[in-house]
Amino acid sequence: MIEVDFVLKKYNSSNVISGSATWKTPSNIALVKYWGKQEPQIPENTSISFTLDACFTLTTLEYKKRNEKSNHFNFEIYFEGAKKDSFKPKIELFFKRIEQYVPFLKDYDFKIESHNSFPHSSGIASSASGMSALALCVMSLEKEINPTITEEYFNKKASFLARLGSGSACRSIEGELIVWGNHTEIVGSSNLFGIKFPFKIHKNFKNYHDTILLVDEDEKQVSSTVGHKLMDDHPFAQQRFKQAASNISKISKALQKGNLKEFVAIVESEALSLHAMMMTSNPYFILMKPNTLKIIHKIWRFRDETNSNICFTLDAGANVHVLFPENEKEVVNNFITSELIQFCQENHYICDRIGQGATQIPNM
Ligand code: DP6
Repeated sequence: MIEVDFVLKKYNSSNVISGSATWKTPSNIALVKYWGKQEPQIPENTSISFTLDACFTLTTLEYKKRNEKSNHFNFEIYFEGAKKDSFKPKIELFFKRIEQYVPFLKDYDFKIESHNSFPHSSGIASSASGMSALALCVMSLEKEINPTITEEYFNKKASFLARLGSGSACRSIEGELIVWGNHTEIVGSSNLFGIKFPFKIHKNFKNYHDTILLVDEDEKQVSSTVGHKLMDDHPFAQQRFKQAASNISKISKALQKGNLKEFVAIVESEALSLHAMMMTSNPYFILMKPNTLKIIHKIWRFRDETNSNICFTLDAGANVHVLFPENEKEVVNNFITSELIQFCQENHYICDRIGQGATQIPNM
């Protein structure tokens, strides 16, 4: 599918006067990382992620038809029960980018109410779950206006719109493994939206766990948007994009064959390559903290001693995602609580696992 396929061409919103839609949308953790993009939100390389479950955003979009079309977007945003005008510019920009595909936006007054299952200040990026939840709510309104759209189109367009809000958000619509970005070996892959990993996933990856160790709960010093931009004239950019493409091929095989050792090697190398890009950009920066490294070394030692398949990954921050298979959950949970929690801010951590994607919450 191409961009024009996502334009709602002829529509009649006169029957849809008011209503609301609520979506619960998970966060995701990339295994092969998206870092570097072009306008409009086109990734420089393919990425693949586990959809999460316990970390989610719950968003309700209320809509009320205006007497006449406005020449600007009319919306209020509430976050955790309080009005949040500081979120307005990001949503305004999102609406601007998606308006050509959902031309009914200026026909309505909106109220957006959002809650996260994880603390906003946890250092966990909320843009993936937040933007995908809002995109799904907008799609629910489109479906009210045009009830003939199929579920497949609904999900693809939700991912397409979410991407325009935040790149990684396009990987938060469905589960369990999502690929975003063209890749010759991944059938159906696209730069425009995320797709479900098209091959059978080996049972070793069923119910995979992700325990998120909250090393640093402060706001990030460098936003992802700025980080992506620094890849534009990064001396190692082209090599990095080649490396990511090759890691997609390798991880695709490991996921199908159940090769946990290979999976561990790719996932950790990806996390460190992402942070290496940050450390070698101009200006350079470091998002890892001393405790991030202490945790990594502890994980490596534990793996050497026990032959476990535990591994870590990082997003654009200091927190550590500890990944491990279902059949190791007891021994790894013991290790985490006895040896790793001490490195978390106020001992905070979140037990998450691979999830099935977004769900609509029926109206009361
Ligand atoms: C390191 O999706 O947050 O988490 O498109 O500018 O909103 P924008 O960036 P964002 O970048 C995520 C970067 C990452 C890697 C990943 O999730 O693939």
